[in-house]
Amino acid sequence: MQTIQRILSGVRPTGDIHLGNYLGAIRNWVKLQEISRERLFCIVDMHALTTSDDAHNLANNTRTVAAAYIACGINPDTSAIFAQSQVPAHLELAWILSCITPLGWLNRMTQFKDKAGSDREKAFLGLYSYPVLMAADILIYNATHVPVGDDQKQHVELARDIAGAFNRHYQTETFILPEPHIIGTATRVMSLRDGSKKMSKSDLSDYSRINLMDDPDAIVLKIKKSKTDSDPIPEKFEDLGSRVEAKNLITIYATLTDQSCDAACAQFSGQTFSTLKNQLADALVNVLSPIREKMHFLLNEKSELDKILKVGAEKANDLAVPHLKEIRKIIGIL
Ligand code: TYM
Repeated sequence: MQTIQRILSGVRPTGDIHLGNYLGAIRNWVKLQEISRERLFCIVDMHALTTSDDAHNLANNTRTVAAAYIACGINPDTSAIFAQSQVPAHLELAWILSCITPLGWLNRMTQFKDKAGSDREKAFLGLYSYPVLMAADILIYNATHVPVGDDQKQHVELARDIAGAFNRHYQTETFILPEPHIIGTATRVMSLRDGSKKMSKSDLSDYSRINLMDDPDAIVLKIKKSKTDSDPIPEKFEDLGSRVEAKNLITIYATLTDQSCDAACAQFSGQTFSTLKNQLADALVNVLSPIREKMHFLLNEKSELDKILKVGAEKANDLAVPHLKEIRKIIGIL
């Protein structure tokens, strides 16, 4: 089995950490704990400032995401869990990298285009330079692998390009080129209301997503109300063709029950979606209830959580500070 040297990943802190974050990212991090040497999981609070919806209640949302990491199975004794803002080297490196990142590269970023909306003139600089800070998050630790959902692939590839540009510019090998690590069956979980849109914290409808803090009644109701079609489920996943909502529910069910999408289709073959919905709601409640309960427990122990974040930040700073020192020397800063 492949051994991975150093993993880094992160989630933006909002109260609505959801099933897409879990299946597309955190669940994979938990599995990768066994086959990686070092792991850093940050809560990217500085990134949250780029979207006004996420910028309020930042301290508590940071704790909520830290609690989610631990409740999902990240071990804080063997992985560093920390807030991005507690390691200032991320921000200094982001500035250095922004001085060798061509605007043309940032102009290609689809997430900026989506989030900025139609009136680009009003978008904030922080939203535009978001991917450079993300590159700094990764490169300050020389992470070799970045486990993310499919939507972050472009950003990790940009980090790789920026690392290469820095190395060429300064004729050095200081940065390792990081690899996006996109694994599992649920790399892009879709909205429960519109299967052509990604499940997201920014969707106005809470019915579009399952939040990790949702109680069983809310989960059952959201799955019951989720959009489907009236055709029966085929034997093979590929025969679902363009039935995007159907594909999404099957994919979520398959991932939660650790089977392939074909096996999940075969299980419900010839049946309607009401049968699948019942079993999917059960599977979600089974998987998410212990996570929600543990999150509540941890959130009642704020000082314990803050202690975990402090220890995590110390581990992260121990790696980041010497690397930043080396980078400063390379670029000729006194
Ligand atoms: P964020 O907070 O939007 O999402 C956190 C992680 O969850 C994944 N994800 C999904 N996966 C599958 N289906 C979905 N619907 C879905 N929605 C979200 C994301 O791909 C991500 O892995 N820019 C990042 C945060 C970040 C980061 C980093 C990540 C900042 N610096 C450095 C890795 C390394 C973001 O906005 O994630």
